[in-house]
Amino acid sequence: MSGQFITFEGGEGAGKTTVLKAVADQLEKLGYQVITTREPGGIEIAEKIRNIILNPVYTDMDARTEALLYAAARRQHLVERVVPALDDDQVVLCDRFIDSSLAYQGYARGLGIDEVYQMNQFAIGNKMPDLTLFFDIAPEEGLKRISLNNKREKNRLDLEQLSFHQSVYDAYMLLLERFRDRIVSIDASPKLEIVVEHSLDVILQCIDKNAFGQK
Ligand code: TMP
Repeated sequence: MSGQFITFEGGEGAGKTTVLKAVADQLEKLGYQVITTREPGGIEIAEKIRNIILNPVYTDMDARTEALLYAAARRQHLVERVVPALDDDQVVLCDRFIDSSLAYQGYARGLGIDEVYQMNQFAIGNKMPDLTLFFDIAPEEGLKRISLNNKREKNRLDLEQLSFHQSVYDAYMLLLERFRDRIVSIDASPKLEIVVEHSLDVILQCIDKNAFGQK
């Protein structure tokens, strides 16, 4: 397997989805074969699970149930979409992956980062991303951005208070420390072009390093 598995992470309103699309276009122009996808979702079964997890009606969903559903969606998406693309030497840009579960369910919901990590290992085996970009924006700023974006879907996690989103942010800070060889922080506050340029630089460096490593 020699494709590149690159994940995009961050709190609400960090702009990662927009940056992901712009980076994909640039990589394609440079001649790379790229697929863009997202979690939870990306394929039919996982999109169905997404509709359950994020449905604002299910406010009484238990935290462990939520964590298990994310992991189930992750497993199916990984085997059905990500691994075949990597086997085909493609660059996979995925909007969220395991770090979201560690931050949201492990830390912010209080299930424990290590517990959620272990449970996810059953779902993903040892398939971790080659690179993860963390889009760094203060939670207040991110929430302000999404409140101005009418087109964005409103999901169950949008019902959470600022303190929840602050705790998600704190969790990502811990993950940056813990996985410092894999996660790179990108300042998401400048204008889009600058964030895209920085992200592309980091991705190209990773692709070059891995290509060199394989020789
Ligand atoms: P999105 O808004 O980036 O599409 O993500 C959907 C929501 O799901 C977002 O609030 C983060 C949350 N989420 C988790 O809580 N755990 C996870 O493992 C994933 C993938 C997403």
